[in-house]
Amino acid sequence: MIGIFDSGLGGLTVVNSLLDKLPQYSIVYFGDTARLPYGTKEPRLVRAWSHQNVEWLKKQGAKIIVVACHTSSTIAGQELKKDFSLPVFEMTTPLLEIVRENQGRRLGIIGTPATIQSSFYQDRLKDNQPPVFFQDGPLFVSLVEENWTHKPGTKEIVEETLSSLKNNKIEVLVLACTHYPLLREVIQEVLPDVQILDPAQRLAENLKIFLTQNPEIDKTLEKGSHKFFFSAQPYHLSSISQAFLGKTIKADIVPFND
Ligand code: DGL
Repeated sequence: MIGIFDSGLGGLTVVNSLLDKLPQYSIVYFGDTARLPYGTKEPRLVRAWSHQNVEWLKKQGAKIIVVACHTSSTIAGQELKKDFSLPVFEMTTPLLEIVRENQGRRLGIIGTPATIQSSFYQDRLKDNQPPVFFQDGPLFVSLVEENWTHKPGTKEIVEETLSSLKNNKIEVLVLACTHYPLLREVIQEVLPDVQILDPAQRLAENLKIFLTQNPEIDKTLEKGSHKFFFSAQPYHLSSISQAFLGKTIKADIVPFND
């Protein structure tokens, strides 16, 4: 099975892309709702929790890991690839591919405070011309987890958050947080002429290619079951899963100890 984790419900946007491209494979999803948000936590905690999540997914029988969290991917993605012997797919690879394909356009990247402060992308894109503009969205994850994606006040928060990207006249906005696609409509209202890109689709395409090229790994993956685990009961699971997966999912709760 494919093991997927995020800090909460945001990773369901990645599950959606995986189900679109690879519908037959069994998946086990873990959302660390008890410790969410990751995006305002110290890197050492994000690293430790990301390792713990992969260990747990491995115990469930995962043969491939998908880090459906940009915060974990930027802070711990490279380490996870080194420390675990199973294939690890994380969000930075598809994001950088998308950026490269849009070379020459005015690009903005928006992510959690931890992702933006990690300087992961600033370091790799420092020579980009025109320069890439970065912005964090400290309130966006809460808006999504609390199901505030379509409240009247939400647009004001999104406008305020995106004002500097707007002033910098970006043409493309890359969503570097798996929660943010749930705010896509309101982001598009605020930036009507900007193309919004989500790396999740590309990750799913890359994984599909990988499985075609590695039939011995493909053979080890079971088919047909979708299981969803969380470290605390998510408040708005049914409405959010309905919006993004077209079905209500059943949550199993796994208590993590620290
Ligand atoms: N969904 C996660 C991400 O992609 C993290 C959100 C959070 O927990 O702050 O970065």
